[in-house]
Amino acid sequence: MDKTKTYTIPKWLDKILFDDFNAVYEPCPTEVVYNPDQPYDFVKLYLGTYFPRSYAEAYGITTRLLTLKSFANHLIDLEEVNILDFCCGTGGEIIGTIVALQDHLPNLKRVNVDAFDANIDAVCFLYHLISSVNAVDDIRLDINVNPQCIYIETEQELQDIVNLTNVQYHFMMSYKAINEFVQHKTFESNAYELIASYLFPLLSSCGVFIMCDVTSKLANSSLFYPQIMNSGLNNFLKKNSRYKTIIPASCFSYERKCFGCYMQDTFYVSHRKKSYDISKVAYRVICTQELADEILPNNSSKACRATNIMADKSLPYNNY
Ligand SMILES: C[S@@+](CC[C@H](N)C(=O)[O-])C[C@H]1O[C@@H](n2cnc3c(N)ncnc32)[C@H](O)[C@@H]1O
Repeated sequence: MDKTKTYTIPKWLDKILFDDFNAVYEPCPTEVVYNPDQPYDFVKLYLGTYFPRSYAEAYGITTRLLTLKSFANHLIDLEEVNILDFCCGTGGEIIGTIVALQDHLPNLKRVNVDAFDANIDAVCFLYHLISSVNAVDDIRLDINVNPQCIYIETEQELQDIVNLTNVQYHFMMSYKAINEFVQHKTFESNAYELIASYLFPLLSSCGVFIMCDVTSKLANSSLFYPQIMNSGLNNFLKKNSRYKTIIPASCFSYERKCFGCYMQDTFYVSHRKKSYDISKVAYRVICTQELADEILPNNSSKACRATNIMADKSLPYNNY
């Protein structure tokens, strides 16, 4: 087990989840597959099982980014940070991101979050959760979350999201949701590429886009979601020279010629109902070309699994 990727939910959050909202720990992978219509009882189960995992993934990824001096230098003086979460669900990744920001940005006072999801129960829960989090003594930030219920069926709703926003975001993210668009064939083209093409123009010049998803296989296909994600994002980046990948670092060198490989990373999360719960995800972190060049000036790409068949497919993220 990689101890550097092991996280424990803070005590105040453990209390909110399991005492105040009666969250239930009960992994049931088949039912988590498609979520917009899941009722409130399911949300409680999601809260006790999957919320902590999303918290840990986001806390881990954001902390890793903020320990890169060349990235943190751009944010260190900020008093206010804007976040967009595409398909937020109950928002575990929002809380994980905010706690990491609070830990690393001493001047930060306020966080504004635009969060979109189709599940009304999840969105309502998120609204109440934020009131509870704002009342916690350990949280010194003023957190403003604007959760919006929107069922995305066509490109029109993606355009609606763009029209609903009027800021540039420092952190844009989607955690474990776009696979559901792929599975349901919501769009004819690659969902990761299409969603990126709508949302990336909202990214601040010093911001990052974290695209994180599950590592399982698409039903009735030989493809795994990370391959579909990498293929879609690489296509997007081939057409948009303004952006580049910083994590995995090997994508920085190969994304414009790579067709999309498999990758995965593992996080461990502990809370009162489970120790070392395992979460396996695949993620890319993308930013403007200028920022990427600053963060990875002399990037070495020897660990790329697309070009080196001996490279370990489950260790793609540690090659800085
Ligand atoms: C597995 S959950 C992940 C939620 C959250 N990002 C997390 O990591 O905990 C997937 C989310 O995507 C949302 N979703 C799926 N398809 C959607 C659609 N077509 N429009 C809007 N939201 C959708 C679901 O409602 C659900 O909350």
